[in-house]
Amino acid sequence: MTALLEIRDLHFGYGRTPSLLRGINLRVTGGDRLGIIGDNGSGKTTLLLLCAAVLKPQRGTITCLGQSVVAGQFQPAVGVVLQHPADQLIGTTVAEDVAFGPENLGCSALEVQQRVHQALAMTGTLHLANRLPHQLSGGEQRMVAIAGILAMQPKLILYDEPTAFLDQRSCRTLMEFLQTNATPGLVVSHDLAFLRAVCTQIFLLESGHLCPLGL
Ligand SMILES: Nc1ncnc2c1ncn2[C@@H]1O[C@H](COP(=O)(O)OP(=O)(O)OP(=O)(O)O)[C@@H](O)[C@H]1O
Ligand SMILES: [Mg+2]
Repeated sequence: MTALLEIRDLHFGYGRTPSLLRGINLRVTGGDRLGIIGDNGSGKTTLLLLCAAVLKPQRGTITCLGQSVVAGQFQPAVGVVLQHPADQLIGTTVAEDVAFGPENLGCSALEVQQRVHQALAMTGTLHLANRLPHQLSGGEQRMVAIAGILAMQPKLILYDEPTAFLDQRSCRTLMEFLQTNATPGLVVSHDLAFLRAVCTQIFLLESGHLCPLGL
């Protein structure tokens, strides 16, 4: 079975932290949603940015659906939900924001409209369609940011700290959404209980390596 995402012997570091990731191996196939937990600064966001082709591996390979992930090249198959939703909400209204992705994929006006409606409905945010994104609460922004990714219909979704800034009720909403939405991918979080509720397998990122944790 072709992996949706395959990471082999991945090494990466920055100037001051030259050996942050030291031989990461990971495989995501259909139905997998893998959780990653680890200390602040252990390299979780960096790992997601490498998978999203924002950063370039120093050694090793990342493939998505059998194709090499090339840093800097747009990957429509991979959606990334950033830690701070405000970083990815750019539309004047919520509906415009969610339309931005499918419009840039070249979808027809009708298709864009259908995708926006579907994505807002899936994330329980239809009632926010005409609101200004920057006036939404943190929980609302999070779900709208997810809607924007869903509207692009990615094969894989990478979530970076999706419960950050959410209260218990919003966390539950997000948890229920992830439990019913089967898009495979990776979820980085400090909340082990949350990862247990929404992931098929959990890994600890420590000293540059991923070690499997029991669910
Ligand atoms: N662009 C950058 N240039 C230099 N160093 C960086 C850069 N981005 C991150 N780092 C450093 O790399 C290390 C890993 O950062 P990263 O953001 O991947 O950690 P993280 O596991 O996501 O942490 P957190 O749990 O706090 O979100 C940190 O020490 C950070 O300071
Ligand atoms: Mg991080």
